[in-house]
Amino acid sequence: MSTLSIKSTARMNSGYEIPRLGYGVYQTPPDVTEDVVLQSFKAGYRHVDSAIFYRNEAPSAAAIKKSGIPRSDIFFTTKVYSAKLSYEDTKSKIASSLKQTGFDYLDLMLLHAPFGGREGRKGAWKALLEAQDRGEIRSLGVSNYGVGHLDEMEEYMKELEQERGEGKGGKIDVGQWEIHPWLARKDITDWCEKRGIVVEAYSPLVQNTRPNDPLLQPLVKKHNKSPAQILLRWSLQKGFVPLPKSVTPSRIVENASIFDFELDEEDMKSLNTGKYEPVCWDPTTAPGSRL
Ligand SMILES: NC(=O)c1ccc[n+]([C@@H]2O[C@H](COP(=O)([O-])OP(=O)(O)OC[C@H]3O[C@@H](n4cnc5c(N)ncnc54)[C@H](OP(=O)(O)O)[C@@H]3O)[C@@H](O)[C@H]2O)c1
Repeated sequence: MSTLSIKSTARMNSGYEIPRLGYGVYQTPPDVTEDVVLQSFKAGYRHVDSAIFYRNEAPSAAAIKKSGIPRSDIFFTTKVYSAKLSYEDTKSKIASSLKQTGFDYLDLMLLHAPFGGREGRKGAWKALLEAQDRGEIRSLGVSNYGVGHLDEMEEYMKELEQERGEGKGGKIDVGQWEIHPWLARKDITDWCEKRGIVVEAYSPLVQNTRPNDPLLQPLVKKHNKSPAQILLRWSLQKGFVPLPKSVTPSRIVENASIFDFELDEEDMKSLNTGKYEPVCWDPTTAPGSRL
């Protein structure tokens, strides 16, 4: 039986730990966020994935404070969104997230999408590094970066190291992408694996668009688990950190009840589709993210 549990964590390049299951709050209305985040804690999650774009950093933080759980036991992520990333804009957005949450530090801050050209992306990364030096952000990463953007990062991380001093170009701790059996993104996940980068999977339930898919149904019957549970188990066993979202109390519990069964090798193989079918947005290839 699996050794994973709801308390399992992965160690990031920063040395900090990240819980292997997250709770996403994209499209969760601000006025229900506090309540559902509190429900997620009751179900055992200790990891909230928010973003400036979601407009629910403040109620997510309010739930964390109200929960009575020590701040250090909860992992909170937010993301800088900009149609045109830049140093100044990222600096002011970091300050805004600290103000919105009232936290002394953010566990993880991601650049939400690679929009704005090389200099903008480099400037945004530099702003994150400076905040990390000040202790405002513990771990850093990117979301929706294609392999080209990641290769480019390695170049400007070297440049920043020359400007800022040895070892100060930064390390990518986490990358976040839409990942599920119909969009496995092996090129990106291989790139990350080689560098010890934790991969988070967003839209891990394919936004509930495929519950009756013929690939899932045999596994649903075999394991007596829901399609969502099968998809989350696939994600965990691939080594990812899935971030399911739900505002439905029973589903919040269901999506955390995935540690009492395991998919075997054949089950995992049966979900290799080789497809590239995003259900959300795909800025890895959008015109605004041109290299
Ligand atoms: N970095 C990025 O660009 C990016 C983009 C998208 C998402 N994300 C992150 O990833 C998280 C999840 O992604 P997502 O919200 O796009 O999609 P998702 O988690 O794949 O799917 C959420 C949808 O599935 C439904 N659902 C949840 N649990 C279910 C279950 N057990 N059975 C059936 N349906 C279920 C939800 O409905 P109810 O809520 O009504 O229950 C909601 O409609 C987000 O909240 C966010 O944190 C990041």
